[in-house]
Amino acid sequence: LQIIRPAYKSSAVRSDQYPQGNIPEIAFLGRSNVGKSSLINSLCQHRGLARVSGAPGKTQTINYFQVLLQEKREEEETRRQLYFVDLPGYGYARTGGRNRQLWSHFIGEYITSSPNLHLLFLLVDLRHPDLPIDREAYTWLADNEVPLQIIATKADKLKKNERVRNLAQIQKLFPTAFPPIAYSSLKQEGRNDVLHTIYEAVTD
Ligand code: GTP
Ligand code: MG
Repeated sequence: LQIIRPAYKSSAVRSDQYPQGNIPEIAFLGRSNVGKSSLINSLCQHRGLARVSGAPGKTQTINYFQVLLQEKREEEETRRQLYFVDLPGYGYARTGGRNRQLWSHFIGEYITSSPNLHLLFLLVDLRHPDLPIDREAYTWLADNEVPLQIIATKADKLKKNERVRNLAQIQKLFPTAFPPIAYSSLKQEGRNDVLHTIYEAVTD
């Protein structure tokens, strides 16, 4: 499996700005700075596609990236068009003090009303497996029956034993159909697992 021809498509803050048509969408959600945009770039092997920043709150709109998921099997080659949807992070209030609200209204609206959403990746920092804001997000997503896969990010920052322990904790706190995938955008670790998860979500 490979991702080819990634390109920025459009941005939205309202439902009438969603792309037309029925191209399957894979969305990326998580705390500000958890590594959503970096993950999209790592999957696409394209550094500058989604804007990355050391300061939280970089992504402020719903950003659509069009990609082709290419499968090569002996003689055959198939390509499926998809959108990767980079969502603004939650848990960070620019104004301070007002970060009680889980996330902007338009993110919730996107998740519950986008007809083409096939899978949502919820990103959790592998160093911080039990943050209340992530558990709140998980509960909301589970209550809304959103198709969910957890990705534990920044795996390169942990030692082996911490990694194993934290991954087990994430699996316990965020139960989903499939176990969490440990990911490092720095080292491209976990990339094949994520691509297979995407493939499974868009083929049936
Ligand atoms: P917002 O757009 O603000 O919600 O953040 P985001 O979730 O899109 O995070 P972004 O991808 O911008 O990354 C935030 C910071 O974490 C950047 O400094 C990245 O370089 C760093 N980062 C992201 N993924 C990894 C990773 O796998 N390993 C390491 N070491 N750093 C990472
Ligand atoms: Mg971002």
